[in-house]
Amino acid sequence: MPIVPATPENLQRAASLLCEGACVALPTETVYGLAADATSVAACQKIFIAKERPFSDPLIVHVSGVEQAKRLARWNPRAEKLAAKYWPGPLTLVLPKLSLIPDLVTADCPTVALRCPAHPVFHEVLLLSGLPLAAPSANRFSRVSPTTAQAVAEELGERIPLIIDAGRCEIGIESTIVNLSDDQPRILRPGFVTREELEATLGETLARASSTSKPCETPTPGNFKVHYSPLTALVLFKGAPPREAQARIYFYKPSAQPPDYSLSEDGSLESAAARLYELFRELDRHNYTLAAIEEVPEEGLGAALGDRIRRACGRRSA
Ligand code: TXA
Ligand code: MG
Repeated sequence: MPIVPATPENLQRAASLLCEGACVALPTETVYGLAADATSVAACQKIFIAKERPFSDPLIVHVSGVEQAKRLARWNPRAEKLAAKYWPGPLTLVLPKLSLIPDLVTADCPTVALRCPAHPVFHEVLLLSGLPLAAPSANRFSRVSPTTAQAVAEELGERIPLIIDAGRCEIGIESTIVNLSDDQPRILRPGFVTREELEATLGETLARASSTSKPCETPTPGNFKVHYSPLTALVLFKGAPPREAQARIYFYKPSAQPPDYSLSEDGSLESAAARLYELFRELDRHNYTLAAIEEVPEEGLGAALGDRIRRACGRRSA
């Protein structure tokens, strides 16, 4: 198993492997990512192959800061405002792409998704390698994003040379993605940074992502029917759980014992987000035929959490 702790020597090893064109799994504050040199077609091809990801689904490029971002994309005043407030952090900006990023990375879209991660391990590897790093979540396509190094190993273990272990990811769900590539800023994927926060920072209303999105936006997870889903069939419930469910995930039930689970450890949405994918993996370990998950309060971070839960249910509800 290629899992190693985040020591200075191992971070140097990760950077050297990346400079040689290999893929390496690294922790971010949201979920673990599978990183490769974003300027290399050969290196990024390895990401698609390891993940079994369709070439039509573009990758997020991670940068060390605004200066590097400006070499990869056409920057604008909205990007300036949002990056000043939320970078480094769980916010991805979609901007018109410049020529350094190969078309393979962006699935031929004229835009590129950029994020400056806050995790010190990922940040250090960005600095040591000097490269922008393409890094989707380190899971096989359409599976649950990994929030621990062990989960990465379950997904991709024998396919990649190195997994850097820095423990459990603090946030636990993927970054918010905002399209700033035209006149109509839009949220393409809800995440830890909420609509309310983004609108307050920009001083304007963000449009709702809709079915009339341009072709380049179609790869965003909203358009895959089941994404972020466990193998266990999952239904959504409100009030009483359906009788046929063999396991139940409540939003907050402090005394829960398997096959009952409490999503949140303290009743907060933050704690619920941090545990969601871990609990999905737990369901799969038990081979339940049907599990039910309770609706979450949808204010603030609850919008992103509700989005992931509905997708995991594949729009089934009890
Ligand atoms: O928190 C995160 O964002 C994690 C960590 C590793 O940084 N990354 C992540 O990457 O979730 P991924 O590939 O699993 O999800 C990124 C989504 C993809 O589904 C893709 O469709 C969308 O971002 N995307 C990437 N480039 C895009 C672009 N130019 N326009 C629209 N959507 C884009
Ligand atoms: Mg993903």
